[in-house]
Amino acid sequence: IHNVVFKKSSKASYLVAKEIADLIRSKNSKGEKCVLGLATGSSPIRVYEELIKMHKEEGLSFKNVITFNLDEYLPMNPSSIHSYHYFMHENLFNHIDIPEAQIHIPDGTISQEEVNDYCAAYEEKIAACGGLDFQLLGIGRTGHIGFNEPGSHYNSATRSITLDQLTREDAASSFLGIENVPKKAITMGVGTVTNAKRIVLLGWGHKKAEIIKQTIEGEETAQIPATYLQDHPNTTFVLDTEAASMLT
Ligand code: F6R
Repeated sequence: IHNVVFKKSSKASYLVAKEIADLIRSKNSKGEKCVLGLATGSSPIRVYEELIKMHKEEGLSFKNVITFNLDEYLPMNPSSIHSYHYFMHENLFNHIDIPEAQIHIPDGTISQEEVNDYCAAYEEKIAACGGLDFQLLGIGRTGHIGFNEPGSHYNSATRSITLDQLTREDAASSFLGIENVPKKAITMGVGTVTNAKRIVLLGWGHKKAEIIKQTIEGEETAQIPATYLQDHPNTTFVLDTEAASMLT
C-alpha cells in the first residue's frame, strides 16, 4: 500500500477526481468503456462533487462509463432516503450524463431465497465488463471495505452479510436510531474489490486514524479485511493529516 497525506481532504478529493476523469478520457479516446467501482458514505462525497463540476465546466462525459456500487443495505427500498440508490443518484448520477442502464447498485429488495443467485449474477456482470478498472473505497472503523466485515475471506465474492454492531452504531444517527439500521447488506467481496486494476481508499478525520494504522502497519488478517489490500499491487490510501496521525 502506497499512502499519500494531504492537509486538506478537499485538495485530495480534487486529485482523486482528476485521476478518475483522466482514466475516463483515456478510455474514451481508445473507444473503450471505463468500469468504475463506487462507494457511498461521507468519504467520497467531495470526489463526486468534483466530477460533477468537471462534467458541467469541462464537458467531461460519462457516456462510456459503467459503474458498480460496492453495497446496499438489506432489506432496503431504492426509493428510501437511506438507500445507497438514493445516495448515488442524489450525489452523482442525477448530475452527469451516464446512461441509467450502465449503473449497477445491489438490489436491497431481493428475497432471501433469491439473494445467492442475484449476487452471483452481479459478480458475472462485473466480469462480463472486463473487471473493474478503478475501485474507489472508504473504510469503516471495523476495517470493512464495502461491507466486508471482520471474518470476511480474502477471496470472498459478492454476497449477503450481517453488519457488525459498530457499523450499525456508526449508521444510527442518520437512521435516527440503531433500531432502524438494517441488520444485513449485500456487498461486493474482498476478492471482487482486489481484482480491480487500481484501488484508491479515502480516509478522512481522526476517527479513522486507528483503523488506518492497523490496516497499513498491522498483520494481514480476516479480522481487519482492509489489510488484504496490502497484497494489491496498485493501491493508494489518500489520507488527510488526522487520519494519518497514528502512522509511524
Ligand atoms: C460504502 C462502503 C463503506 C464505507 C465506510 C466508510 O459504500 O462501502 O465501506 O466506505 O463505511 O463510511 P464513511 O465514508 O461514511 O466514513
